[in-house]
Amino acid sequence: MKLWAGRFSKEADKKTNDFNSSISFDSRMFKEDIDGSIAHATMLSEQGIISVEDKESIVSELAKIKEEIIDGNLPIDPDAEDIHTFIEGELTRRIGQAGKRLHTARSRNDQVALDIRLYLKKECTALISQVKELEKVIAMQSEKYADVVMPGYTHLQRAQPITFGHHLLAYGEMFLRDIGRLEDAYKRMDYCPLGSGALAGTTYPLNRERTAELLGFTGPTQNSLDGVSDRDFCIELASAISILMMHLSRFSEEIIMWCSWEFKFIELDDAFSTGSSIMPQKKNPDIAELVRGKAGRVYGDLMTLLAFMKGLPLAYNKDMQEDKDAIFDAVDTVKLCLTAFIPMIETMTVLPNNMKKAALGGFINATDCADFLVSKGLPFRDAYKATGELVALCIEKGITLDVLPLEDYKEICDLFDEGVYDAISLERCVSMRTPLGSPCPDNVRKQSANLLEKIK
Ligand code: ARG
Repeated sequence: MKLWAGRFSKEADKKTNDFNSSISFDSRMFKEDIDGSIAHATMLSEQGIISVEDKESIVSELAKIKEEIIDGNLPIDPDAEDIHTFIEGELTRRIGQAGKRLHTARSRNDQVALDIRLYLKKECTALISQVKELEKVIAMQSEKYADVVMPGYTHLQRAQPITFGHHLLAYGEMFLRDIGRLEDAYKRMDYCPLGSGALAGTTYPLNRERTAELLGFTGPTQNSLDGVSDRDFCIELASAISILMMHLSRFSEEIIMWCSWEFKFIELDDAFSTGSSIMPQKKNPDIAELVRGKAGRVYGDLMTLLAFMKGLPLAYNKDMQEDKDAIFDAVDTVKLCLTAFIPMIETMTVLPNNMKKAALGGFINATDCADFLVSKGLPFRDAYKATGELVALCIEKGITLDVLPLEDYKEICDLFDEGVYDAISLERCVSMRTPLGSPCPDNVRKQSANLLEKIK
């Protein structure tokens, strides 16, 4: 029998019932639903709205129900309309009259808004610690490879020399911003909607500050219509997660490239790669590819949330039941991705010789060669042109700048001397890049320590 059976003369059609039901995806909020009800009943009794005896029997039975669900001794009825209905029904079945008093001054509209906030607050906290775990691994790896020279790219063309540690720390910065966004989303979801009722508050003398306090919120929400119809916190979290997934996806793309024979900058641990059913030589970076792909799925979740909220009149509308599937999927997906991604980065083998080999080709020291001429007093534009001619000459001869004879240098610009070979050596090119945020090994070591400090 439905909660709202009184007004209706027949039971809902079975298929309609299934269509309407949210139990298949909201039952995961059973703890939050029970915690919310315990706080609500406590406040109701403190305010003299229900008796202390009723409150006690509600609270102790709800605690039992929670334990039983956790232990698997109370299966959640898949035919229930939603988790709120199921728990209230079970409570009433067990304690009778007192159970029927629990829903005084409450609606499922403020109840569900509360449950999602409580659930997502926990998930948000867990996600922040997971991203911090990733940061620890990045800090560890960047410190380890602070000195390893590799080509830095623009347009996927070798551009200038950097260090592998520096490259990794770029992701460290992105994930720091992700942590900031998640913390920020948390702050705004940390308000308790309970007491908003169905939409118009209630006539009972509630103490909304008290319920908020009992549930660990910063405070109550300020407008009953907004309290039940706001899903910004889902959208904000989904967008923070989408940006995080975008970073994971870019990182994955690089991992995939670095694993290819064309690069061979790294090798993934066997535990984080897969083989091919037909090609015996293959070792595929499936984890990274899946993470890259799942970013699209999470963007879809964000779009779902934005799209169904668009144009909804105040206050609650059933469209909003779609929030849970979308935001839970986004949260589950990013957590799953991180669970596989973190140890993949932690266990990868870095191949410094291959990075160095790639760095030696592609004239990535050309800017430094031009800078050498600048140090001899030539204006940069002229130095740039002279170096361009040198590169063309090298290409013609099939060699690189470091082995081009000094006579050739001098022929193009007589300001060159023996010193140029040291000036364009890759080690020097990176070690001279010392200003804040640049790739020299000392900076990398300092910044990986800073990163650890920031996530404390
Ligand atoms: N299952 C519903 C949801 O997730 C709970 C709220 C139901 N409220 C209502 N007025 N039908 O949104």
